[in-house]
Amino acid sequence: MCDLRVSFAGIAFANPIVVASGTYGFGREYQEYLDLNELGGICVKGLTLHPRAGNLAPRIAETPMGMLNSVGLQNPGVDAFIRDELPWLRQFNTKVIANLSGNTVEEYGILAQKLSDAGVDLLEVNISCPNVKEGGIAFGTTVEGARAVTEMVRRNSTVPIMVKLSPNVTDIAAIARAAEDAGADALSLINTLLGMRIDIHTRRPILRNNMGGLSGPAVLPVALRMVYQVASAVNLPILGMGGVATGADAVEMMLAGADLVALGTACFVDPLAPLTAKQGLTDYLARHNITQVTELTGKVALHA
Ligand code: FUM
Repeated sequence: MCDLRVSFAGIAFANPIVVASGTYGFGREYQEYLDLNELGGICVKGLTLHPRAGNLAPRIAETPMGMLNSVGLQNPGVDAFIRDELPWLRQFNTKVIANLSGNTVEEYGILAQKLSDAGVDLLEVNISCPNVKEGGIAFGTTVEGARAVTEMVRRNSTVPIMVKLSPNVTDIAAIARAAEDAGADALSLINTLLGMRIDIHTRRPILRNNMGGLSGPAVLPVALRMVYQVASAVNLPILGMGGVATGADAVEMMLAGADLVALGTACFVDPLAPLTAKQGLTDYLARHNITQVTELTGKVALHA
C-alpha cells in the first residue's frame, strides 16, 4: 500500500492530486463524471470582490499541444461564492482552495478576510492572471508587487496562504523569495504563459483580447524548470502545475520539487484525467517500492 497523504502548509491532503483554478469552475460541472471526494483538493475559479462578466469572446484559441485563454476572471464575486458555492463544496471530503484576485492591494486584503472567515482551507493568491487590465500579473512581475500583496493577505488571513506565481518573468526565484519573505505559507506555479495566435485570413488575433495565457502539455517543460528553480530558492511547499496530464507528468512535477500537483487543461480533454493521474502515480510508487508519495518531492538527480 502506498501512502498518498501530504501535509502541505499544515493542511492534511488525502492525496497530492489537485485541480487547477480556472479549469474546474466550482466543481459542479465535473461531479457527474467523477467522485470529487477522490481529489486532494479543488482550486476554485478566481474570485474577485465584485462579479465579473469576463472578457469579450472569442476568449479561447487552440494551439499545438495546448490552448490560449483570455477569460478575464469571469466569476460571480466573492460573496456569491461564499453564499452559493462554498456550502455545496463543503459536502465533499476534499480541500477547498480559494483563488483570489484584486484590482488593488487593498482588495486582496478584503478578499482574504472574507474567504478565511468563511472557512476555506487555503487561499491561493493570484498575482499572475495575464488577462486583466488591473491587478493580476501586474503584481506578480515585480518583487515589490509580490511583497505588497502577500503582506496584505498575510495580515488579513487566518488560514494558510499560497501565492500563485507567473512564468512571465525573468527571475521567478526572486519573486518566490519576495513572497516567502512577506509571509507566504506556500507557492503555486506556474500560471499561464502569455501568448498570441493570428487568423491569417482576417489578419486579426484570434482572441478578442489579442493575447491570452498558454496552458496544456506544451508548457510542461517550462513549468518543471520553474518549479525546480523555485524549490531550490525557497523553503516553502509547492503546488506544481502547468501541462500536467498524466501520472508520469505528476511524478516528474514532484521530482522537480512539487509537494502537490494540479491538473488543469487536461480536465477539459478528459474529465477523468485527475483520477487517471492519481492511479498512474500510485502505480509508479508501487513499481518502485516507494511507500510514501512524499518521498518523491525534490528527488530529481541532476547530471553533474
Ligand atoms: O482570464 C482568466 O480568468 C485567467 C486567470 C488566471 O490565469 O489566473
